[in-house]
Amino acid sequence: MSIKSKIIDFFTKKEKLSTGGGDKAIQKQVAMGKLPARERIKSLLDPDSFQETDLFVEHKCKDFDMDKKQLPADGVITGSGTIFGYPVSIFAQDFTVAGGSLGLAHARKITKVMDHAVKMGMPLIGINDSGGARIQEGVNSLAGYGEIFYRNTLASGIIPQISVILGPCAGGAVYSPALTDFVFVVDKISKMFITGPEVIKTVLGEEISMEDLGGAKVQTEITGNAHFYAESEQECFQQIKRLISFIPWNNRRKAQPLSTKPPRAHFDVEKIIPSEATKPYDIRDIIRSICDDSDFLEIQERWAANVVVGFARLNGETVGIVGNQPLVLAGVLDVDSSDKAARFIRYCDAFNIPLVTLVDLPGYLPGIDQEHAGVIRHGAKILYAYSEATVPKITVILRKAYGGGYIAMCSRHLGADFVYAWPTAEIAVMGPQGAANIIFKSEIAAAKDPEAMRKLKVQEYSEKFANPYVAAANGHIDAVINPYETRNTLIHALKISANKIETRPTKKHGIPPF
Ligand code: HXC
Repeated sequence: MSIKSKIIDFFTKKEKLSTGGGDKAIQKQVAMGKLPARERIKSLLDPDSFQETDLFVEHKCKDFDMDKKQLPADGVITGSGTIFGYPVSIFAQDFTVAGGSLGLAHARKITKVMDHAVKMGMPLIGINDSGGARIQEGVNSLAGYGEIFYRNTLASGIIPQISVILGPCAGGAVYSPALTDFVFVVDKISKMFITGPEVIKTVLGEEISMEDLGGAKVQTEITGNAHFYAESEQECFQQIKRLISFIPWNNRRKAQPLSTKPPRAHFDVEKIIPSEATKPYDIRDIIRSICDDSDFLEIQERWAANVVVGFARLNGETVGIVGNQPLVLAGVLDVDSSDKAARFIRYCDAFNIPLVTLVDLPGYLPGIDQEHAGVIRHGAKILYAYSEATVPKITVILRKAYGGGYIAMCSRHLGADFVYAWPTAEIAVMGPQGAANIIFKSEIAAAKDPEAMRKLKVQEYSEKFANPYVAAANGHIDAVINPYETRNTLIHALKISANKIETRPTKKHGIPPF
């Protein structure tokens, strides 16, 4: 064969393998609002930056007539490319080829790009659209998933791992994402479950739709399995690009700084925060009015909304923000919000992202539901995560900081480097009402007018403890600051901590309250 014929032959082969499961199958996907796998990669990466690997890989399965089936690229497109010029490793499963199901060859294509990502220190993006382990390949497909889970775990904390769910994903196709850092879902397209409706019908005799079982809303509002929700695939890709712009490529680097921009939102603390301490406000108004360009990328916005977590920039540098949200359950810590905050804190710590904590909470949520759901175990996660973190930790107490909530929200006692309080801060074991009822119980009961006595005692307690000055007198906070100076104070604290080094006792690893 001449060189020219060989090149033509190569293009013909490549063309054939690049068509996935064929026009009919692709049209079916497109009719469901889904992009074909290669189009997804193209939409996400910088133009012409994708280089494919392992297009010619073939599976070795002969059972169930598998040797007679053509599975182009074995149902997964793999390779590398760039986003804003940053390198990324990527795979996209192709549902038009055997439902994107994962056999051993398919798995080895994925583990190859995973290994590459770790070696080169670049993020891994996995676009999942798969019915899980390929049933015909039996234990070989389970082995494939095992090899992926193992690498997900070893890569955790070394490179960012981003999972995108763009189809009905079952079994291993959701367990691998569950081991990664950020999971993106799209309305009507994404479904996540361990076992699909067919299996549920067979085993339990129950009929349930894929959407109710694990649709995008379920996963972002009820389970917290997914971190970002989009209305369309294109919106989802924009969200991923935005996330990539905030985080470093690997744990040896810092996030790329941007030139600083002042906040766009006007900071009028007297308008944002009600004068009555029991009235709510939106902590995101505070965040947006202190961060660069008022640009705040919130994570898990729809789940455990009593705590707000996300990335922002201060003076061009990425910071991780954790804030109580007085708008939802008065910003209490409970089972889910503790999980959410603890995981985010560990992400920031692993990837050299300083933590800014904004405090306004009445404490941990009391009650039998929370106790039985394990608020002790889950609540301990946030204590563990803050204590373990060695990145710069800066805390601002805005209003309430009561009881365990005061300690948990990155207090000095858990190793905060800088703790500031606004003059509106109330730092105490509990709120004035509850405290007065307990410590002045007999005086209130013995009074001629118990109600008047209660009011007097509440006021007495408030004057003594519901302020930042007792904590300041004891050195538990470093400074009471003018709220209007918050941004400048944070920027100063970040500058001072730019070269922070803090070590921990050497050990294999700790045992967090998982
Ligand atoms: C082989 C599969 C497959 C699988 C789907 N297909 N899942 N082939 N192994 N796991 C194939 C179908 O046979 C079909 O092929 C094509 O993909 C499209 O599937 P449909 O069922 O027609 O699509 P849809 O109605 O959209 O339903 C999608 C689905 C369903 C919900 C994903 O296919 C399903 O329930 N699949 C099985 C899911 C599951 O239980 N997986 C768990 C595997 S265990 P044709 O040729 O007809 O086009 C696992 C273990 C991991 O993953 C370990 C975890 C710890």
